[in-house]
Amino acid sequence: MIDPHQVSVFRPGLLDGQVVFITGGGTGIGFGISELLAELGAHVVIASRKADHVEHAVQTLAARGHRASAAVLDVRNAEQVKAVVQEIADRHGRIDVLVNNAAGNFYAPSATLSPNAWKSVVEIDLYGTFHCSQAVYPVMAAQGGGRIVSTSMTLHYRGWPLMAHATAAKAGVDALTRTLAVEWAPQRIRVNAIAPGPIPTEGVKKAFTPPADSGAADVFATAEEKMAEYARTGIPLGRWGTPRDIANMVAFLASPAGDWITGAIFVVDGGEWLSKGGRQGMGDG
Ligand code: HXC
Repeated sequence: MIDPHQVSVFRPGLLDGQVVFITGGGTGIGFGISELLAELGAHVVIASRKADHVEHAVQTLAARGHRASAAVLDVRNAEQVKAVVQEIADRHGRIDVLVNNAAGNFYAPSATLSPNAWKSVVEIDLYGTFHCSQAVYPVMAAQGGGRIVSTSMTLHYRGWPLMAHATAAKAGVDALTRTLAVEWAPQRIRVNAIAPGPIPTEGVKKAFTPPADSGAADVFATAEEKMAEYARTGIPLGRWGTPRDIANMVAFLASPAGDWITGAIFVVDGGEWLSKGGRQGMGDG
């Protein structure tokens, strides 16, 4: 099995001189994207609500000799987003790539979901994507083009109990991706999305940890064993994803290879959602 960290298909310096603005880019999949784009030469502006997440990410990349800076913002706040985008444009003179990666999510029954709980997730995932896309539009249009890549998911392709807010929001992200792609093509702004499959974040690992009191009822002793079994039975390509799997698609779309690609939603999930049918799985993409 190929380890995507060990094999890079991208040439060094591929993104030299490019400026990337990534939301939620300090941890998890977002950090994987920040890391690869910085390795390829881009200056990566990493934004998050949490200053400690972004500072740590920026320091990690800087220590490796990469270019990165931090921005603290809440994507739900259009004014904050505009101000940060203006700062980036003033400082760097351009924004080549926007990665709408910030997302909020939790499992909760729709029957009792509070209005504020619904609003929080829809505002982060859908409004946030719109706010950031709209904010970079004038910068990208003025410089003659750009790339927007948003994070979607696969769960809304078939419905996903306990996730009405996130599935509705991500369906909106898909619609927005297609609409903006067509609307902003004259400005040469390519707008695409990626629907990641299961990537073992801390939350997933927790969900796979057998309860301490399960005794003989749980045949798997550890989260690792359970996760290995899920990879064998639930993911056709036989392994969990990594942030690098998603980052590779972002780098491809940011590169000259993405020049004629817009309005596309790329499922990067080892075949998971296609193989599921109506069956419930982890499917956190
Ligand atoms: C029910 C909940 C809840 C839960 C929060 N709420 N968690 N309701 N069950 N587990 C409700 C709160 O009670 C509150 O409503 C409202 O949501 C807002 O909560 P806050 O904590 O005040 O909001 P905020 O600080 O803005 O946090 C936003 C958040 C939080 C989305 C709720 O979880 C967050 O910040 N998450 C960011 C990180 C994250 O989730 N990443 C996952 C992305 S992964 P009331 O009515 O009480 O005021 C991804 C792929 C997932 O998206 C695929 C999974 C399979």
